[in-house]
Amino acid sequence: MQNSTTIGFIGAGNMAYALVSGLVNSGFSTKNIKLSDTDEALLSLRADEFNLEVFTDNTKLAAQCDVIIFAIKPQVLSVVCKELQEHVSHNPLIISIAAGVRAVDINRWLGGNASIVRAMPNTPALLGQGATGMMANDVVSGDQKALAEQILSAVSTCLWVEDEKMLDAVTALSGSGPAYFFLLIESMAKAGAALGLDESTAQQLSIQTALGASMMADSSGDSAHELRAKVTSPNGTTQAAIESFQEQNFDMIVAHAMRAAFDRSREMGIELGDYD
Ligand SMILES: NC(=O)c1ccc[n+]([C@@H]2O[C@H](COP(=O)([O-])OP(=O)(O)OC[C@H]3O[C@@H](n4cnc5c(N)ncnc54)[C@H](OP(=O)(O)O)[C@@H]3O)[C@@H](O)[C@H]2O)c1
Repeated sequence: MQNSTTIGFIGAGNMAYALVSGLVNSGFSTKNIKLSDTDEALLSLRADEFNLEVFTDNTKLAAQCDVIIFAIKPQVLSVVCKELQEHVSHNPLIISIAAGVRAVDINRWLGGNASIVRAMPNTPALLGQGATGMMANDVVSGDQKALAEQILSAVSTCLWVEDEKMLDAVTALSGSGPAYFFLLIESMAKAGAALGLDESTAQQLSIQTALGASMMADSSGDSAHELRAKVTSPNGTTQAAIESFQEQNFDMIVAHAMRAAFDRSREMGIELGDYD
């Protein structure tokens, strides 16, 4: 990314904070980052921390930026896009991280022919450890795709999908996924306490086990399946537990849960697109 590329965030909340921090940590100059928000106190905090230019008028920010990132709640996106219509004739790259809202709707609200990348990050992005699924509409150039990937890479691992519908699958997997792991951590801690451990010990063991297992899955050349096979001795304790999970049809439980998230994501996209 050229250090002269100007990036503007509309919405200066949690995700904008994570992305600005990631960009600054990767060497991007705050001279070329701008923020707008309706919350003046929040803007003032951000301006003090990062020494960057802030706006309460989204249109003024938009007119000055090569990239505009929508880091606002999905419900306010249509109103914000419509107010920008007259201020995006320079064809900035639009990156929307708002969950659920489809590129076709964003394009219509912006007046048409906009270069739009939709990105679905997840909450670990707040720690620079996110996973992001991304898609680009037909107007986005190769250079703009590379730029979008560089920005989101500051806080996450980025993977592209061709078909926008696959962002609903991304939402079901990595978007909502952190909560599935929190649920497992919680259940294992509760089960450990039920076996006699004190609650704090059970919780710490559960969290560290999740962290260690994720790091092994990430760094080892083996698949998760192979790693599991390696730690499952015949007739041992792990085998007893895994067989119990499988008797309860663990794969099917996960598949049903993710299908429910996928269906809800599609429904929400349709509902949010009706905001006209
Ligand atoms: N947090 C995550 O991990 C995560 C993950 C994936 C996707 N996302 C998506 O990222 C987006 C932002 O999430 P977030 O957690 O950063 O939200 P957030 O902390 O609530 O930040 C959004 C900010 O936008 C401001 N805002 C509201 N209306 C505005 C307007 N018309 N113009 C400019 N700013 C306006 C809000 O002000 P007020 O508070 O005063 O309304 C708030 O400061 C959401 O669409 C969410 O779906 C978040």
